[in-house]
Amino acid sequence: MPVVKCPQQMKTSSMVIRNALVVSSSDTQSADILIRNGRIEAVGSAVGSADEEIDARGLHALPGALDPQVHFRDPGMQWKEDLESGSRAAAAGGVTAFFDMPNTVPNTTTRELMAEKKQIASRKCLVNYGFFIGATSDNLTELNAVENVPGIKIFMAASTGSLLISDRRDVEHIFANGKRLIAVHSEDQAIIEANKAQYAGSTNVEDHMRIRSADAALASTRFLVEMARKYERRLHILHLTTRDEVEYLRAEKIAGLISTELCPQHFLLKAPDDYERLGTYAQMNPPIRTAEHGAALWQGLKDGVIDCMATDHAPHSREEKDKPFGEAPAGMPGVETLMPLMLHQANQGRCRVNDVVKWLCEKPVQLYGVQAKGRIAPGFDADIVLVDLKQTKTIRDGQLHSKCNWSPYNGWEIQGWPVITLVNGNVVFRDGEFFDEVKGREVVFRNQSEGGSG
Ligand code: DOR
Repeated sequence: MPVVKCPQQMKTSSMVIRNALVVSSSDTQSADILIRNGRIEAVGSAVGSADEEIDARGLHALPGALDPQVHFRDPGMQWKEDLESGSRAAAAGGVTAFFDMPNTVPNTTTRELMAEKKQIASRKCLVNYGFFIGATSDNLTELNAVENVPGIKIFMAASTGSLLISDRRDVEHIFANGKRLIAVHSEDQAIIEANKAQYAGSTNVEDHMRIRSADAALASTRFLVEMARKYERRLHILHLTTRDEVEYLRAEKIAGLISTELCPQHFLLKAPDDYERLGTYAQMNPPIRTAEHGAALWQGLKDGVIDCMATDHAPHSREEKDKPFGEAPAGMPGVETLMPLMLHQANQGRCRVNDVVKWLCEKPVQLYGVQAKGRIAPGFDADIVLVDLKQTKTIRDGQLHSKCNWSPYNGWEIQGWPVITLVNGNVVFRDGEFFDEVKGREVVFRNQSEGGSG
């Protein structure tokens, strides 16, 4: 573990990070980073001095990750998570910004509810934040009038909560009227319902992936791509899970118009092994599938068919997950383990650390049109993670910071961990300790005047 000299007072107006290996998607260079008033002022070999200093020799400096899909359950389901616990888990995992989903209680479907959520976040969040607005079949005015959001979220299949638009005519109406990005949970509700009837009464959790079949995912994705093309509307397909969709998107995806993402669990966990190991704790929507889907998704990410990564961090309490198949809710935590799991892939030679920066930091920022984030360069916000690529730790239930207190990766030995996380120039996490005197801020999206992002 390298020596890290770090300020005791965590709120600083200027700071130098010395001797870091600064990583972007295209290169890695040894450099000092000068930060002033929350922004990066200079990166290089003679950046001058500052009030505080971190000696980062032996550490890599990565831009903070942006997790564009989390469920932090606030307001309304704080026994599972809240914006404080979720954002602390994020900070510990090197995630310096997140976009939270609207299936809270109440659902975030109006400007007023959005304003309330942003209020709560300003008091509780340790890292930076943005919030999706949730689509219903009759809130078009709200969807288009709400300000500074990553986009509109549509659930085309039922998952946790009541948000659902299963009638394709209602989905088309939203595509046809407005400009901002639409992010979709892409599974076909009618196909799922038909499969459900076939597996009625099943006690085998592995049937989850048969009920929420690959066909259901592909049918919905095909429809959405048609909608995006027809209305030239920016579409982001959330958490892709099938080889079929990778192949379809390889042929049909239009760069700049259509994008998609991958969650680590959809290529690191697999059926049948992880259903046997985890039971209902492996249940999520869309589901964990077989290794052949996982391999195609990984290939799709490496090829660029899949643009970025996300976690779909969706915590539920143990009590809820211990219910039998059919009653247990779907979803698993992941925001804190995203970056370590991916650094571990790099350490194992499956990708480069530069790729990790591309998928977790640069691409989500570009896709959603976020201002001044995702790079360690002059003028960008000082959201920086110092990682120790040599550090090895075992993920343990109860040692992570999500309220749910469990992880599908319990017992996995992982090499490559964040040791210091800076948000807007302030150290918020260091070696297991949090500094929450200064809170995160709402991220700013470009192109909002046109009602769009990205
Ligand atoms: O498994 C899931 N859980 N998928 C979702 O889309 C929602 C999430 C949740 O909120 O629990």
